[in-house]
Amino acid sequence: MSKKVLSYDQTTLTGHISVPGDKSISHRAVMFGSLAKGKTTIKHFLEGEDCLSTIAAFQAMGVAIERSGQTVKIESNGVDGLKEPSQPINLGNSGTTARLLMGILSGLPFHFTLFGDDSLSKRPMDRITIPLRKMGAKIDGREEGRLLPISLRGGNLQPIHYHTPVKSAQVKSGVILAGLMTEGTTVVQEDTKTRDHTENMLKAFGADLTIDGNTVKIKGNQPLQACDIEVPGDISSAAFFLVAAAITPNSHITIENVGLNPTRTGIIDVLKLMDADISVVTKRTIGGEPIGDITVRTSAPKAVTIEGDIIPRIIDEIPIIALLASQAEGTTIIKDAEELRYKETDRIKSVVNTLKQLGVQIEATQDGMIIQGGNTLHGASTQSYGDHRIGMMVAIASLLTKESIELHDDQCIAISYPNFFADLQSLLSNA
Ligand code: S3P
Repeated sequence: MSKKVLSYDQTTLTGHISVPGDKSISHRAVMFGSLAKGKTTIKHFLEGEDCLSTIAAFQAMGVAIERSGQTVKIESNGVDGLKEPSQPINLGNSGTTARLLMGILSGLPFHFTLFGDDSLSKRPMDRITIPLRKMGAKIDGREEGRLLPISLRGGNLQPIHYHTPVKSAQVKSGVILAGLMTEGTTVVQEDTKTRDHTENMLKAFGADLTIDGNTVKIKGNQPLQACDIEVPGDISSAAFFLVAAAITPNSHITIENVGLNPTRTGIIDVLKLMDADISVVTKRTIGGEPIGDITVRTSAPKAVTIEGDIIPRIIDEIPIIALLASQAEGTTIIKDAEELRYKETDRIKSVVNTLKQLGVQIEATQDGMIIQGGNTLHGASTQSYGDHRIGMMVAIASLLTKESIELHDDQCIAISYPNFFADLQSLLSNA
């Protein structure tokens, strides 16, 4: 297992960077490009391991996909051209590949076996297998289909009206995609709006779907039309540097061409609520996704209570928000975030344990955490627990410590941000 010793003499961040392509959008672009007949080109694709798992899955079904760096070219014969894979499909660490792919595979008259790494094999899949079974997919797996490995035989589905009990864009998207493969109209309803990249991109690929508040209706068996996709920068990756600039002295950075989809911009709202010096300029909209630049300068953050409908809009940013809160004035409370327990790690546990090791006064609650502000962080030997967002949180924390921090298992950062340390270094070396 790799280890990194993090030690920075100079901690002021300045300059402009752009972050890698959005992970959620990169996955969907490969999936929909593979379902659409014709040629799809994806630019600024995230070369992270999770998205590469999605490419490999569709290659295993016979789709011609070529990648050269951040450009992906797909040439597909559409849904009818997909083939039964001869081997089990390895999903790696990717929950998004698992849940969305199961939706698509449920519509295909083939047999599939899906497996993942240790972390993914612990994450709940019943949230997606339950609605897919209701639609008629034949699914089995460990703990009766709750855990990977899972085997699935699809085809001949019935449309459903599904009111999803979990606040999960992966579940919503998996059911929408199964609906796309099913004769009739499938309806998915959620209580709190989650990220809507599936809906936006299906429209860009020519699909007819209607969105009414938190309800999506999709007509099945519609052919998708190939199109070109430019992936915006991932706001979940940008978040690490936005927070870093807010809490390190004399910093002033701009992150360019970041996706500003309102279902994802909770981190901007939280930074504003905490009195950060942040400004946002929206420049253009591509494929229904707004893109713009975010500028942050050092400020003195104030504590806040974070709860309710904002949680799905910051679900991947909570680890770095916890670090931000550790430097704020006052006590920050995060509630309604039990979903964190089902991520790459139990992120309530892993954030609390790691920040405690670094000297933060923080305690876990069932659905969140309570973080005291004004902490002086110190060195420690930490681990990522194989979770990319914990690894990046530790790296940003190391900007605040005099002593070095050891980070074990740092290579998982490549899951969503292969050039993370190079981008950090470039912002540090401008000062
Ligand atoms: C994602 C949805 C979220 C998020 C994940 C990506 C997606 O998961 O945490 O990183 O691309 O739809 P949930 O749907 O489980 O909340």
